[in-house]
Amino acid sequence: MSWDGIVFIHLPDQSEAVPAGRISLLEEGLQSIGSTFGYGARYLKRPNAIPVDPVSLPLSSLSGEEQLYEPPAGLALFGAIRDATPDLWGRRVIEAKLKVPPNSVPESTYLLNAGTHRFGALDFRESIRSASAAGLLPPLNDLQYLLEAADRVQQGLPIPTRLEMLFQVASLGGARPKALVSHDGRQFLAKFPAKNDPFDIPAVERACLELARASGLNVPQTDLVRLADGRNVMLIERFDRAVLPDGSFSRKHCVSALTLLGKHEQESPASSYSEIAQVISDRGVSGHVQEDRAELYARVAFNILISNDDDHLRNHAFIWHPPGKAWRLSPLYDVVPRPQVFHERRLHLSVGPQGRNATLTNLFEARGSFGLLKPDAIAIIERVSAAAREWRTHLESAGVSPAQCDLVQSAFRRPQDIGLDEITKTR
Ligand SMILES: Nc1ncnc2c1ncn2[C@@H]1O[C@H](COP(=O)(O)OP(=O)(O)OP(=O)(O)O)[C@@H](O)[C@H]1O
Ligand SMILES: [Mg+2]
Repeated sequence: MSWDGIVFIHLPDQSEAVPAGRISLLEEGLQSIGSTFGYGARYLKRPNAIPVDPVSLPLSSLSGEEQLYEPPAGLALFGAIRDATPDLWGRRVIEAKLKVPPNSVPESTYLLNAGTHRFGALDFRESIRSASAAGLLPPLNDLQYLLEAADRVQQGLPIPTRLEMLFQVASLGGARPKALVSHDGRQFLAKFPAKNDPFDIPAVERACLELARASGLNVPQTDLVRLADGRNVMLIERFDRAVLPDGSFSRKHCVSALTLLGKHEQESPASSYSEIAQVISDRGVSGHVQEDRAELYARVAFNILISNDDDHLRNHAFIWHPPGKAWRLSPLYDVVPRPQVFHERRLHLSVGPQGRNATLTNLFEARGSFGLLKPDAIAIIERVSAAAREWRTHLESAGVSPAQCDLVQSAFRRPQDIGLDEITKTR
């Protein structure tokens, strides 16, 4: 069976989307077998046209009638299209909306039902004349209801009509229960507590994002909301949306590092930060490559220092930069410390010559892959270490209780235990 539809895209600074081309998904039962995409001739003539997928859908002068593309070998979907479809939590919400069991519908059903608030600038419609699925984001005041609806999805319970606003705002990826809200004329991702959380993850994640900001990293605005039932919800401003002068929103085309590297999900654990640094050199914005590689290097130092070992290739993203007609590293998101007893730790992605070993020494030895000379690498590692050393003060001032700090304490490394002193001695 195949599903045919139209890929729409929001071009820079536009609140309305335009058709970019025609997609066909080949499906056998629930299995995605392959897909094809062809650009529309009118889209290719637009001076501000953006490649729908950075790796496998280059803009050419040939429209779909002459040039039909397929994803890279091994992938059934184009990476950018995969990024615009929820992978875990959002699927559970779509299933609740359709009243079907988990993983019981084909990919095209998830793709169509993720709605207009999905990640990045793409949208999918049945035909060129189909209207956009309308829907305003719920306000911050609805957070308690959204959390109640999310609790019900986690428990496999039906969603009553009064809580159905969750259905249109659960379209981002990732496993944690989440929703989208508008606040002060801007759009935020709200990350909820989940059952079986080992500590107050929303409060700790938000505090760690603020710790990252204190380390000099590029972090969206964040906030923590304590609901009437005492539970905390983290807010992070969406970096894939921008407010236009009339108060409406434009969307930024975004892809995961998984997509920019043209990889399959299962290849993530065998991938490395040097590959991301390389793709920044290859596909980054001229004049900003070194800035983005240095930012990535600092993020690895931060992940090592707080034992954030869920740093897979979907937890790094890139944003299309219209003037440079290329990709820039997105602001930071999804940083959660993982408490553990062992001294030897690993990140998800490979760091340097000692593979995934989570030490500053390993990162220091990898500086060449990030285009960094010794003094610059030392300065970054020292800067991030200095902020991370003060983690407890930062967490407490961000509202994390001393008891919660005790629960996560073992995640935070003493920089001197993982190589800082030896690194600074090489100066
Ligand atoms: N501030 C943001 N602006 C825009 N998109 C975001 C933002 N933060 C996260 N996202 C998108 O939403 C997805 C899910 O967010 P996040 O990674 O924080 O959730 P998660 O459920 O904790 O993920 P995981 O399953 O990796 O633990 C991300 O992969 C990214 O595509
Ligand atoms: Mg994530």
